[in-house]
Amino acid sequence: MCGIVGYVGATGGNDAIDVVLDGLSALEYRGYDSAGVAIPTPEMTVSKAAGELSALEETVSRDELAGESVGIGHTRWSTHGAPSDDNAHPHCDEAGRVAVVHNGIIENYQRLRDDLVEAGVAFRSETDTEVVPHLIGHYLDRGADPEEAFRLAVDHLEGSYAIAAVVEGSETVYAARQDSPLVVGLGDHGTYLASDVPAFVEHTDRVRYLEDGDIARLSADSAVVTDVEGRPVDRPTETVAWDAEDAEKSGYDHYMLKEIHEQPSSLRQCLRGRIDELEGTVDLPELEAIDHDGPIQFVACGTSYHAALFGAERLRTSGVDAHAFLASEYASDRVPVDEDTLVVGVTQSGETADTLRALREADRAGATTLAVTNTVASSAARECDHTLYIRAGPEIGVAATKTFASQQLALALLAFELGDEPTRGELEALRDIPGQVQTVLETTDARAVAETFVDADAYFFVGRGYHYPVALEGALKMKEITYRHAEGFAAGELKHGPLALVTERTPVFAVVTGDGETARKTIGNVKEVEARDAPVVAITDGTSDVARYADHVLEIPAVDDLGASVLANVQLQLVAYWVANLLGRSIDKPRNLAKSVTVE
Ligand code: F6R
Repeated sequence: MCGIVGYVGATGGNDAIDVVLDGLSALEYRGYDSAGVAIPTPEMTVSKAAGELSALEETVSRDELAGESVGIGHTRWSTHGAPSDDNAHPHCDEAGRVAVVHNGIIENYQRLRDDLVEAGVAFRSETDTEVVPHLIGHYLDRGADPEEAFRLAVDHLEGSYAIAAVVEGSETVYAARQDSPLVVGLGDHGTYLASDVPAFVEHTDRVRYLEDGDIARLSADSAVVTDVEGRPVDRPTETVAWDAEDAEKSGYDHYMLKEIHEQPSSLRQCLRGRIDELEGTVDLPELEAIDHDGPIQFVACGTSYHAALFGAERLRTSGVDAHAFLASEYASDRVPVDEDTLVVGVTQSGETADTLRALREADRAGATTLAVTNTVASSAARECDHTLYIRAGPEIGVAATKTFASQQLALALLAFELGDEPTRGELEALRDIPGQVQTVLETTDARAVAETFVDADAYFFVGRGYHYPVALEGALKMKEITYRHAEGFAAGELKHGPLALVTERTPVFAVVTGDGETARKTIGNVKEVEARDAPVVAITDGTSDVARYADHVLEIPAVDDLGASVLANVQLQLVAYWVANLLGRSIDKPRNLAKSVTVE
């Protein structure tokens, strides 16, 4: 949550204000309650504003700050203190010499704040962050140089933080990381800092990921990383595969729509080199060291939890004891876990606090841990014993779309690695999914369905087996981007209560594929809602006679249920997108949400 950007430009480099504001725009998906920048030379200039980045852009004069080469910026998702100008970052010390931006939660801030107040410091905000510039200022007053003052201040902090700080007149950015991501970019025109690579990927692809406990000093031509005591630590320079174009909208009105349309290529990327059709095998060398035949537990949140439900179901079909848990409930559920358990954290960002907490608990209990993530070198990837990357590429829209589909495919591959060997037919079916998604994108009637139901009172989604997580996901997408009431149910559960909600103003989206027993039972549930006058939208491959009972049909190619769940979900993503579009919602940045949820 929250996005941090920092820059120290070399001679002939860019203006810091441009790099920082453009970087914040790439990170706005991490939070958009407020934004701010600090340019420390020749004297400290701080601008901040509640609301989206556009509000800050109105208060900052790029022209007046042109020519200055150092800066930091922040886009906020509120934790301590309401979204307001005062609570926006950067925060300063009393003398205005120090400016600090922070992502995370400083758990001991109240005690630090009380001590500082007792020493006579006047606070201007309600944030936990503000203790940091005051602590730095305190040590500067006692004669410490800026780096020493930063280090001494950080040494007081408990909790999770990614921090960047600048000091008036100094051409250096200081950074610290604990449980919150920070990456340094090494470019020809300067040195960059950010919560995530898209902030500076247009300038450089050479990066150094900071680790917990690291302190970094960024100057125009280098980044020196040490521990809190000042001892040098070596963080390798890596090259990231993302390019700037990946992080732009490419002519689509919204990142979400672009990312929905990227699914054929991101799914191909997920499968590339991992299916050997000649040998009839799945090849995941990163998982070769896992020798596991005990129970498997998935932990995840939100959309990733829906993918986890899908993964667990897939493994159970191979006879593996596999279950999915909401990461935030994992501890209180007292799930039995020991050294025979494999615990799989499914997390697009790799930074979700609830999921990391559950993985850490599993690790403490002796379990083997595996991260299934999109984000290279994320906390989950670094902390788990093993990592399987879903390779979806950057996802900027807050609502997860292409990463869900890639999670589904990555988990299907995982099931072949840990469960039964694949048959040739199963491998071919997996290989064909990206092309079938393309067919859905080219033939969909989702927009017309959205137009028909844009004024509905509520939206219900039902499915069984692999289609149950799809029903949950369809409802989540609908509620998060349209702000309309939507619920997903296991189709058989409808008659146990939710049926009371069904009226002629509540369309029911039913995922029905194949013509087996599961389909027949869901069709029975469709008839129940039809009899109560609810409009029915069937997402179907046309194999069964569900269309007879449906008012609208969203067609998908006829494939096995696993593949059908990927295809059906694409139709539901598009329906949610078009309803939100017709309602004029903030599709890429829905209210109250953030892309990466780093608080529990
Ligand atoms: C919904 C959505 C969220 C995330 C959840 C977990 O569209 O994106 O529900 O799925 O916050 O995030 P990750 O996958 O990063 O752990």
